Amino acid sequence: MPANRVMQSYGRCCASPGFFDSFYQRFLASSPIIRDKFTATDMVAQKHLLRAGILNLVLHARGMSDSKLRALGHSHSREGFDIRPELYDLWLEALLQTVAEHDREAGADELLAWREVLGKGIALIKSYY
Ligand code: HEM
Repeated sequence: MPANRVMQSYGRCCASPGFFDSFYQRFLASSPIIRDKFTATDMVAQKHLLRAGILNLVLHARGMSDSKLRALGHSHSREGFDIRPELYDLWLEALLQTVAEHDREAGADELLAWREVLGKGIALIKSYY
């Protein structure tokens, strides 16, 4: 099951020092629009929040209820942080590159599994925009 492979890979990423730092470095560098959204953010806290956020995306693919992702959908919607749907593409590319760098076991099929597993949850979050 792809979600189980992704869970294993995510475990290796979380155990790899600097995983969340490299992610945010890449993600913030990918667009000035993204950088502007985080100018007032406590990035230490944000890394912890994202750690749980990614876990929720994976758990959703394994059958967890929609409620946590619906809450993210609301907080990121135009009434909230106003995160336009196309920005999630940059988020996913930054994440996949960071996984490839930090999980030594991640080959092409692992990365494809990540794309498939996260894609469903991301679509749900975007649908609340
Ligand atoms: C806040 C997760 C995509 C910008 C948060 C929080 C979580 C989270 C857990 C804190 C809880 C909350 O306030 O709801 C995620 C996940 C994403 C994602 C799992 C991918 C599916 C994005 C994207 C952007 C973004 C694409 C674009 C810039 C923000 C901002 C905040 C935030 C600006 C608030 C930061 C602050 O408190 O100053 N995100 N996020 N997120 N996210 Fe995301």
